[in-house]
Amino acid sequence: MDITFLLNGETVALSGVSPTMTLLDWLREDRHLTGTKEGCNEGDCGACTVMVTDGGGARALNACILFLPQLQGKAVRTVEGVSGPDGALHPVQEAMITHHGSQCGFCTPGFVMSMTAAHLNGARDHDDQLAGNLCRCTGYAPIIRAAEAAATQPVPQWVRDDAPIAPPATPLLPESADALAEIYARHPDATLVAGATDVGLWVTKQLRDLDPVIFLNRCDDLRRIEINASEIRIGAMADMNALGAAMADLHPSYAEMIRRYASVQVRNAATVGGNIANGSPIGDNPPALIALGATLHLRKGDLRRSLPLEAFFVAYGKQDRAPGEFVEAVSFPRQPDRLGCYKLSKRFDQDISAVCGCFNITVENGTVRAARIAFGGMAATPKRAETVEAALIGQPWTAATIRAAQSGFDADFSPMSDMRASSRYRLEIARAMLARYFAEDNGQTVSVLEVSA
Ligand SMILES: Cc1cc2nc3c(=O)[nH]c(=O)nc-3n(C[C@H](O)[C@H](O)[C@H](O)COP(=O)(O)OP(=O)(O)OC[C@H]3O[C@@H](n4cnc5c(N)ncnc54)[C@H](O)[C@@H]3O)c2cc1C
Ligand code: FES
Ligand code: FES
Repeated sequence: MDITFLLNGETVALSGVSPTMTLLDWLREDRHLTGTKEGCNEGDCGACTVMVTDGGGARALNACILFLPQLQGKAVRTVEGVSGPDGALHPVQEAMITHHGSQCGFCTPGFVMSMTAAHLNGARDHDDQLAGNLCRCTGYAPIIRAAEAAATQPVPQWVRDDAPIAPPATPLLPESADALAEIYARHPDATLVAGATDVGLWVTKQLRDLDPVIFLNRCDDLRRIEINASEIRIGAMADMNALGAAMADLHPSYAEMIRRYASVQVRNAATVGGNIANGSPIGDNPPALIALGATLHLRKGDLRRSLPLEAFFVAYGKQDRAPGEFVEAVSFPRQPDRLGCYKLSKRFDQDISAVCGCFNITVENGTVRAARIAFGGMAATPKRAETVEAALIGQPWTAATIRAAQSGFDADFSPMSDMRASSRYRLEIARAMLARYFAEDNGQTVSVLEVSA
């Protein structure tokens, strides 16, 4: 493939690029820019963080799971390009030195790049911004102190200079949903790449050869999130950060769950469409969307069809999607906020759910009028708790009703035991999540970060 982008302010035009060459490998092996480090090579440690600027602004991304064609027309800045043209250090570099934010230094370029992007964007939630960067030596306190100190300093002009460029057209990088529909219909065997936070690992960990590959990241029309009086429609290419921002006012519990979805770098890449299309039983979006009554919109060529999201997940690894058909959007009705999303994982940050339970229960005059409850991590697919729903509907909204309904989880789910949780624990957690929803609805504050007697 032919790819053109900016690297540290200079235009790079490549031809004959393998579609699955990662930015990290290319930087280190081809360009000998070895400041960008390889730690895990699967998006977990942040050692490979770079800053990428496109029409949507600047964002931190993990170079190890970023394919070169995803950079078409964008501006990339690596740690080698963070200091000024005259060698002046960036304020985050100065602050890391002053506050002793580095020891062995292996993680430092990744931290500096995450901090540079956060500094440019004026982000002050340093704990969240740096949750995707691991440091084994220093401990986080000096690094957070450095981020706080740098935040008081102005953004240097040279960091503001990055802007997208207009690259030549390339067929496997369609620029709209229409162009994607046309080319995918002609190559139904192609692998679609959205954010590559799954597909990247197929290449770096499973060493799979993928060809042909169609990249969706230039289809800006698929990124739209449209909110009108009756409906919310989320384009397949909307990333997790955009989704979290859109949900903050409408369904804050959903937004809070998204805050715990991986890390800033992964949320900047991962898309709603990818999180649905991969059919994972532990993806975080499907349970929330199913609880909200979502409809999935699929497209093949000019043909479109829609189905309830839960019907898309047929069995483990099997979805209701034909060759050449892609996810165009997902939508759900505007509704009063009754959504409670609970993500249980071994770590608070940057961890896949063991169980993700989402509850949307409508109560009128003390009686349950409607209930949609969906879970990830409890079955081979994201799945509704239909027995529990039926046990709630029409009943008084009381602790006794909750206790009676809790046994319904045994009929709804036979979860597996794996490294994340045992079957018994998963069932117990599902029951506890329903109790938590009821407690919160009755004004009790529940925190998973604090244990109190
Ligand atoms: C470090 C790390 C942490 C993670 N943490 C979480 C987490 O906390 N919660 C969670 O749910 N997931 C997590 N994931 C998994 C991953 O982020 C999600 O599954 C993600 O949403 C996939 O989206 P993507 O855009 O990156 O998809 P891709 O990797 O680009 O694609 C995934 C699959 O979907 C297909 N696809 C993509 N878009 C479309 C489309 N529009 N139509 C049809 N098919 C399509 C691709 O062909 C592929 O089969 C994590 C991943 C990593 C690497
Ligand atoms: S090398 Fe660990 S996130 Fe890229
Ligand atoms: S300074 Fe050694 S890993 Fe962070």
